[in-house]
Amino acid sequence: MDYSAKTIIMHVDPAAPEPDVITKAAEYIRAGKLVAFPTETVYGLGANALDPEAVERVYRAKRRPANDPLITHIAQSTDLYRLADHIPAWVEPLAQAFWPGPLTLVLQRAAHVPSNLAAGLSTIAVRMPIHPVARALIEASKTPIAAPSANTFTRPSATTAAHVLEDLYGRVDVVIDGGPTTLGLESTVLDLTQDPPVVLRPGGVVIEDLRRLIPEVRTVSQYLGDADEASPSPGQLLRHYAPRARLMLYEGPAAAVRSAISDTAARYIANGRRVGILTVNEDAAHYTQLGARIIALGEQHDHAAIGRVLFGALRALDGQGVDVILAPLLDSEGLGAAIRDRLLRAAEGKVFHVGQPTSHEA
Ligand code: TXA
Ligand code: MG
Repeated sequence: MDYSAKTIIMHVDPAAPEPDVITKAAEYIRAGKLVAFPTETVYGLGANALDPEAVERVYRAKRRPANDPLITHIAQSTDLYRLADHIPAWVEPLAQAFWPGPLTLVLQRAAHVPSNLAAGLSTIAVRMPIHPVARALIEASKTPIAAPSANTFTRPSATTAAHVLEDLYGRVDVVIDGGPTTLGLESTVLDLTQDPPVVLRPGGVVIEDLRRLIPEVRTVSQYLGDADEASPSPGQLLRHYAPRARLMLYEGPAAAVRSAISDTAARYIANGRRVGILTVNEDAAHYTQLGARIIALGEQHDHAAIGRVLFGALRALDGQGVDVILAPLLDSEGLGAAIRDRLLRAAEGKVFHVGQPTSHEA
């Protein structure tokens, strides 16, 4: 049966969360209930990581397949030693450089840690968030908190409490509303059980910064289409972060991308379909005459601005009932890698290459 709950909404000051609110929310965590809370990346759907039944409730509330492991959130880096075994030497400098922050480390799971946390794998993914609400909640709960992104499975991650409620109202006990998240993209997942370490998911800590500490770090680009497939990066499914509308991505010289998007939009609109366009600010003026819903995400090279609003934009266009969403695929420098990854997954890896002959996919 699905998990159902009477959802309580608690408001907090994101910079200085009120202790009485946090204490109350922590009581829910300790009682095995589900508490959604803001982190610097996206909202998390939290439960006591050491309580296998609470962890089970997370999967049910999210409608998440049981083979998709969760991230465990800690308040102090030393908590890691209680969750993981055979901790490699990389951990210290990584924690020093990037914790608290948007870096998740995959390590060997300690034997006493519930295996459903890691979907039965022998590993565990751990992260120490920097958001004051997340940190206060973990500390007050006196237990690590398992938290996937607080969206229903395959939907865009939630960057506001309203997004959480859109997906999970009645399926989560408490939603702590601490305003919009600052990064808007999830953490980088780095697998330290492989040597050299492998980035399983690009995210808030950029590969260029990881490479300064681990020059040989590898990246994988996996677009798995099958939810039942066992893989080193379970849960990195092809269709993920997806709006209900079909997302069509365009790559190539800027002028060719603009005209492909304009032409395609005009064609759909002539056929009575509703079209949404995601664009960079510089291009927005090209599309104003089409009758499409346009969202300008930010300036082309301002990946931080684009990343912050991307998931909200996909949700907003869904809210307006569009049938298709057209968007350019942006470059992959810095945070661009995470933006590109989320767009590709939302589009099931399909890209229209325009204006030049190319064999490059993804
Ligand atoms: O920023 C974030 O990471 C957010 C906030 C709430 O912390 N959480 C998040 O969780 O994005 P989720 O469950 O949506 O994504 C977790 C990712 C998945 O891609 C999963 O495959 C990977 O982490 N992961 C978790 N445990 C793993 C493990 N033991 N081995 C390999 N990958 C793992
Ligand atoms: Mg997620």
